[in-house]
Amino acid sequence: MKVSFETAGAVQGGALAVFVTQGALQTETVQSLDATTGGQVTRALKSNRFNGEAGQVLELLAPAGLEANRLLLVGLGQAAKVTASDLEKAGGSVYARLATSGETALTLNATALEGVSVDAGEAAARLGLGARLRSYRFDRYRTKEPASKKPTLEAITVWTGDAAGAESRYAKLAAVADGVFFTRDLVSEPGNALYPKSFAERAQALTDLGVKVEVLGETQLRELGFGALLGVSQGSANEPQVVILEYDGAGGDTPPVVFVGKGVTFDTGGISIKPAAGMEGMKWDMGGAGAVIGAVRALAARKAKCRVVGLCGMVENMPSGTAQRPGDVVKSYSGQTIEVINTDAEGRLVLCDVMAYAQDRYKPKVMVDLATLTGAMIISLGHEYGGMFSNDDTLAAQLDAAGKASGDKLWRMPMGDPYDKLINTPIADMKNVGPREAGSITAAQFLQRFVKEGVAWAHLDIAGMVWSDKDTALWEKGATGYGVRLLDQFIADNHEAK
Ligand code: BES
Ligand code: MN
Ligand code: ZN
Repeated sequence: MKVSFETAGAVQGGALAVFVTQGALQTETVQSLDATTGGQVTRALKSNRFNGEAGQVLELLAPAGLEANRLLLVGLGQAAKVTASDLEKAGGSVYARLATSGETALTLNATALEGVSVDAGEAAARLGLGARLRSYRFDRYRTKEPASKKPTLEAITVWTGDAAGAESRYAKLAAVADGVFFTRDLVSEPGNALYPKSFAERAQALTDLGVKVEVLGETQLRELGFGALLGVSQGSANEPQVVILEYDGAGGDTPPVVFVGKGVTFDTGGISIKPAAGMEGMKWDMGGAGAVIGAVRALAARKAKCRVVGLCGMVENMPSGTAQRPGDVVKSYSGQTIEVINTDAEGRLVLCDVMAYAQDRYKPKVMVDLATLTGAMIISLGHEYGGMFSNDDTLAAQLDAAGKASGDKLWRMPMGDPYDKLINTPIADMKNVGPREAGSITAAQFLQRFVKEGVAWAHLDIAGMVWSDKDTALWEKGATGYGVRLLDQFIADNHEAK
């Protein structure tokens, strides 16, 4: 779907959308449309409960006197409170409304957003971005979809007082949206198509954007001593891979910001096997790694002036005659030993090796890991916030702000010694699970044991965020691409030369 920006012109066919804010419906634009249509707009408003609330859309078919086939009034909520993120949602909602309507062209009239404080170019760009994000669908395996269910909308033109400004802002946002789509593609793929090696192959595409892509295979991982990660992988016929993405848009000796992603391409639970119901969802247990690669792609595509290294720990967690057993003791890359009480608590075993290695090799000052780590996180926060755990208040505040600005929201969770003690065990340095209570926190405490002194670290448990069972303004149900915009925003605000 193509998005372009123009100063106002003439609508030829297609659909036309105009924006109104709550309780302020009689704008000049609306009044003039009402006059052109011989009062149809007022009549429609009267026969409807539309009042300009955020998310409301009023649609008129075949409006008299207008070139457009449809006219839509789109509510933005209270003018003074409208944010860039609200505008994205408005753009996404209009797209969703018309996607399969038969219309091929849509014009968004954003020339007069009265009382809205978002800059004109920015507002137009965000409307376009919202539509673009909502237009994603994963249909590569649908061979019999009726034509009537397929999207028809191909082009969106946004009218704005600042077309040049909108254009340049949108170019950057679209690069980030491409990163989100890259992630959604990976997260959507089933486990028979996406396994560690095929993930590594797909990562090669980033070399075209100037990213250095390196893959560590099983032999190298064994030589390096990734005993915890290899223990998870040993029941699978698929070889594990650690995919390293180095992007340097800063140059010099800037220490990199390191992102680490959990990439379990399918999580059966291993010998501690999961129940059958819903297990298909565990194809998206690589959503952390997916977010990391999508974010690096976004940064590279928009030529961000930063240095970032993304490391994705890719394994498949399977039960088999070669699988690890509950009670096995493994030696991690860091040298610390772990008693594997539950083979389904595998994500932390993968992450701990990749995190320790990343710190040895790249000497970062800042490291953020992303993982669909615990079901308990979904119990705590549902699907509204990712959980954040950190050893550093500044980093936590920066991530929190990036969450608010990007829409990928985070909520900070507590950590501390009393939780840490819960993973002690007599036979090794630690065990991989604590009691049922505070399951997300003990998982974070486990990871913290692999963070070096002086490294500001945050762990983002995104179990509730990478997949959505319902449609929203910015995505159709399925993979959300959560994390890409968050990391992009975090870098833009804190680690990018201006
Ligand atoms: N990948 C799961 C976490 C998960 C569960 C994500 C449901 C999304 C939805 C993780 O590997 C896991 O199995 N965690 C266990 C940990 C437990 C054994 C301590 C869990 O949450 O049940
Ligand atoms: Mn698991
Ligand atoms: Zn898992």
